[in-house]
Amino acid sequence: MKKVAIKEADRLAMMTPAAAEYTVARSYLDWLIALPWSKSTDDKLDIVQAKRILDNDHYDLEPVKKRILEYLSVLKLRSNGSTAAVGKGPILCFVGPPGVGKTSLGRSIARALGRKFIRISLGGMRDEAEIRGHRRTYIGALPGRVLQGLRRAESNNPVFMLDEIDKVGTDFRGDPSSALLEVLDPQQNNSFSDHYLEVPFDLSHVMFITTANLLEPIPPALRDRMEVIELPGYTEHEKIHIATKYLVPRQLAEHGLKRSQLVLSKDALAAIIRDHTREAGVRNLERQIAAICRSTARRIVERKSKLVSVTARNLKDFLGPVEFFHDVAERTTEPGVAIGLAWTPAGGDILFIEATQMPGRGSLILTGSLGDVMRESAQAALSYLRSRAKQLGIDPRSFEKTDIHIHVPAGAIPKDGPSAGVTMAVALTSMLMRKPVRPALAMTGEITLRGKILPVGGIKEKVLAAARSGVKTIVLPDQNRKDLSQVPPEIRRKLRFRFAKTIDTALRLTL
Ligand SMILES: Nc1ncnc2c1ncn2[C@@H]1O[C@H](COP(=O)(O)OP(=O)(O)OP(=O)(O)O)[C@@H](O)[C@H]1O
Ligand SMILES: [Mg+2]
Repeated sequence: MKKVAIKEADRLAMMTPAAAEYTVARSYLDWLIALPWSKSTDDKLDIVQAKRILDNDHYDLEPVKKRILEYLSVLKLRSNGSTAAVGKGPILCFVGPPGVGKTSLGRSIARALGRKFIRISLGGMRDEAEIRGHRRTYIGALPGRVLQGLRRAESNNPVFMLDEIDKVGTDFRGDPSSALLEVLDPQQNNSFSDHYLEVPFDLSHVMFITTANLLEPIPPALRDRMEVIELPGYTEHEKIHIATKYLVPRQLAEHGLKRSQLVLSKDALAAIIRDHTREAGVRNLERQIAAICRSTARRIVERKSKLVSVTARNLKDFLGPVEFFHDVAERTTEPGVAIGLAWTPAGGDILFIEATQMPGRGSLILTGSLGDVMRESAQAALSYLRSRAKQLGIDPRSFEKTDIHIHVPAGAIPKDGPSAGVTMAVALTSMLMRKPVRPALAMTGEITLRGKILPVGGIKEKVLAAARSGVKTIVLPDQNRKDLSQVPPEIRRKLRFRFAKTIDTALRLTL
């Protein structure tokens, strides 16, 4: 937008004042004429048809589909047969890791409703004017991105997706989130005022949907306006199904291949998922399938084969050597290393925590891009162990004459949150007692100074990540027992779960 502004400014500077004024007025008029003041598309309010479209585009995601069909039903009842239905419903917000289908769901909602689809990304937006536009006194001014989107949609009731609402920033140029509030608030948005336009525009027919990777960074006032629907990521089993039913047929079509020319066996898909991707969504999986399609296309064009068959065995001819290893069991054979489970924007992940000791004066060193909360957890873990040293059979003097160093590898990734408390306590105890942690065991939980374990969030994501990485046993806070119902049964069956109320129990279960 800046580039355009400068060019426009240069152009205006070369004109006579009258000509420049004329140009500015012309472009304002252009906008007034082009905006869809009363142009709208007719809604398709056929629930059966809508359900078919949603099911055709996406596997599972039942809660989301259910919510959308309810939304449609309300729209239908309120519209009384006419199509000028007002979308005063709540704003939906899809929250989940990359590649779980947030954007593509938006697209298919638009298709199901028969509305236009428009998408803008709010990521990195810091300037209020990007939402609300610049005043016309500003050279090269334009309306904000919302009205630009509507002009592109050529209708005043599109499905309007605001991506990455968790990445809106604030600085001296003003706070875009306050402008967003006005856009998203059904009480106010029937007369949205854009600085450029100066005439209020009615946004109340637009169906806004927002997406985010994480819920926490969204300003509370905005979060309050929205109905959050979580898409937590898929299991291997679900991914195989999505690949067979959706991704492979789509990639075949995109590469001009026929079904009879490429056979991807189920075990090949499983191997792609396990050895060539590490993600909660399916974006990389789709990319790898595309790579296989490309190489198949070439073989067929070169007439090397008529039918390409990919199995787990010959997969490396297509995708090269295994990219991700399941090295979990191997890395915890030494005392002082424990595996934690973290909740990241990309879903869940496992996290190694290493503790070591050297001669020194009793200080605690922490490295690996840890946030404040995580540093405090480490302090709490150490204080608890010191207070319980005798019962645990640790020589109390070992704290005085040594420095303790806790490191969380993968230092390039900032990590924070209280849920690593238990893992730190276990890693420290394991080091002090010179006893390795049981193999293929991971844990999560916040701790208190009195040795209690508190519940943590993101259990489904964490459990899925643990299963992906080859963990066999998970120790969870006792109060998280109920969250296991969100974990699909085929994953629950593969893992063993242990629950702990106190650090002492956790130590007994892990060492
Ligand atoms: N349940 C599903 N069924 C079929 N296809 C799916 C499903 N989930 C995701 N996909 C496919 O995965 C791809 C990536 O999805 P999409 O671009 O919507 O991700 P996203 O959630 O918007 O990610 P990001 O946060 O990175 O924007 C799309 O091609 C989509 O069709
Ligand atoms: Mg997206």
